[in-house]
Amino acid sequence: MKIDYQLKPETERRQQQFVPEGEVGFGRLRTDHMFLMDYENGEWQNARIVPYGPIEMMPGAMCIHYGQSIFEGAKAFMRDDGEIYTWRIDKNAERMNNSAEIVCIPHLDETTQQQAIHALIDIDRLWFPKQQGACLYIRPFIFATEDRLSVSPSEKYTFCVVMSPSGAYYKTGANNAIRLLITETYHRAVPGGTGSSKAAGNYAASLRAAKHAADFGAAQVLYLDSTNTKLEEVGAMNHFHVRKDGTIIIPEFTDTILKSITSLSMLEMGEMLGCEVKQETVYLKDFIADIESGEIVEAGGFGTAAVVSPVGSYIFEDKRVITVGDGNVGPTIKKMYELYTGMQLGNVEAPAGWVQKVERQHG
Ligand code: PLP
Ligand code: COI
Repeated sequence: MKIDYQLKPETERRQQQFVPEGEVGFGRLRTDHMFLMDYENGEWQNARIVPYGPIEMMPGAMCIHYGQSIFEGAKAFMRDDGEIYTWRIDKNAERMNNSAEIVCIPHLDETTQQQAIHALIDIDRLWFPKQQGACLYIRPFIFATEDRLSVSPSEKYTFCVVMSPSGAYYKTGANNAIRLLITETYHRAVPGGTGSSKAAGNYAASLRAAKHAADFGAAQVLYLDSTNTKLEEVGAMNHFHVRKDGTIIIPEFTDTILKSITSLSMLEMGEMLGCEVKQETVYLKDFIADIESGEIVEAGGFGTAAVVSPVGSYIFEDKRVITVGDGNVGPTIKKMYELYTGMQLGNVEAPAGWVQKVERQHG
C-alpha cells in the first residue's frame, strides 16, 4: 500500500520518548498523527498519515444518523531493547471485517489494516509511554460518511486509526477485584442482532446499563441473555470463571457475545497455564450455586483494554451480594495475568505469529 505522509513539522512533533509523570489513564492521550483512508466509487483509496485533528464531515453523514460505525481495540508493547511489537492485530483486522459484514460496511483488506497500524506506530514511536504497565492502545475504526438521510448502507466511508498511550482500563488496576451487577433490566444483545460485532451502537446501548451498575456500586454489568438464564459478557470484556479443579470456563461464543481475542488466546494457552481452558453454556442458576458451594473459586473478565480483570463479587438488583472465594484476586488470575502480559512484553515466548515487530522506516 502506498501511504502519503503529510506529517507535522519536525519541531511540532514529540522529540523524546514519552515518560509520563503521573498515571497515564486509559484512552485520554493521543499521539501526534492519525491514519486515514477513504472508500469511494467502490474502492478503498487515498491512504495517508496526517496530524491528529478534526475530521470534516457533512451534517448529513450517515454514521451520525444511523450509527454505521465500527471499531477495534488493539495494543502494542515496547521491549527492553526499545523495539515496539503489536499484539495479534491480524485477529483485530479479521474481526473488523466480521463487524463490517454485520453492519453492511465494505470489506477492508486485512493486510492493509495491519500495515496502517504499523506505519502509524512507526511515525509516532516516541509516544510509547515508558512507564510500568503502560502501552500504546490502538483504535482503528470505520464510519459512514455519505451525506444522505435515507436508511440504507452508505456508499462512502473513512477508515481511521488513532493511538492512545494508556495504562489500566479500570482505575482499580489489575490487583484489585471489581464488583459486577447482574441485572434482568438491561440486555446488551439479542439473537440475530449486532452483539457479536464491535458496532458503535452496542456501546451506546451499554451506557444506561453502566449507569445502573454504578447505582449499585458496581463497575459494570454482567449481561444475561434475553431469557435471563445464561451468562453472556460484560460491556467491554468477556466473562470467565475458575473451578476449584483449576478449569477456566468462558461462556460459549454466540451471536450475542463478542469473540474476544484475549479469550481466544487463553483458550490456546491451557498447556502453558497448566489447566484446561474451555467454553460452555453457563447457566445463571448453576453459576450462583457453584459460587456459594465453593465449586467456583475465581472469576473475572478478559479484554484488550481490561487484560485479565478480577471480579470479587456480584450484586443483584435486590441488593443481594455473592462473593467469589474470599473476594480478592486469586492465584489462577494472577498466573493468567502474568503469563499474558509476560508474552505481550516479550519476557515469555508467545506462540508463533502472535507478535509482530514494528519495523523502523520513517520513525
Ligand atoms: N466484549 C466486548 C463487548 C468488548 O468490547 C471487548 C473489547 O474489545 C471484549 C469483549 C474483549 O475483546 P478483546 O479481548 O478482543 O479485546
Ligand atoms: C478493548 O478492550 O479494546 C475495547 O475495545 C473495549 C473498549 C470499549 C474500551
